[in-house]
Amino acid sequence: MPVVEWDDSFLVWVEPFDEHHKHLVDLLNRSHTELVNDAPAECCGELLDELSDYVSYHFVSEELWMMENSYPKYEQHIVEHNNYIKRLQDFQRDYKQGKAETPLEIFTFLRQWLIEHILKTDAEYGRFTSAHYKKPGLT
Ligand SMILES: [Fe+2]
Repeated sequence: MPVVEWDDSFLVWVEPFDEHHKHLVDLLNRSHTELVNDAPAECCGELLDELSDYVSYHFVSEELWMMENSYPKYEQHIVEHNNYIKRLQDFQRDYKQGKAETPLEIFTFLRQWLIEHILKTDAEYGRFTSAHYKKPGLT
């Protein structure tokens, strides 16, 4: 699967999340490339640690923002985040212990999941804010 190119379709128009997402896409691409090229497990493990830490930081930031802005789909969004973190951390642990039998397949799934989450689920809170802050009577 080719490297994911960042373009405007990823934008949710909420700061700082566009910058976070850009960084995530970069980390996902770099991790994927290392796995494809069979990089030493140590290097790839470090990158997975960085990715996992950044995903956790980013998800918490989004969740705080959703709470502060009374985002109606907050709870289901958190369930998605928590499920993803669990899968990513399981993979991170198994990979580092040499127990992941099909690392590239598993990581491809994790990478694709996060890309789709940004494009669909996160895009919804972007639409929510633009609708939410639109003043009645103004076009
Ligand atoms: Fe999210």
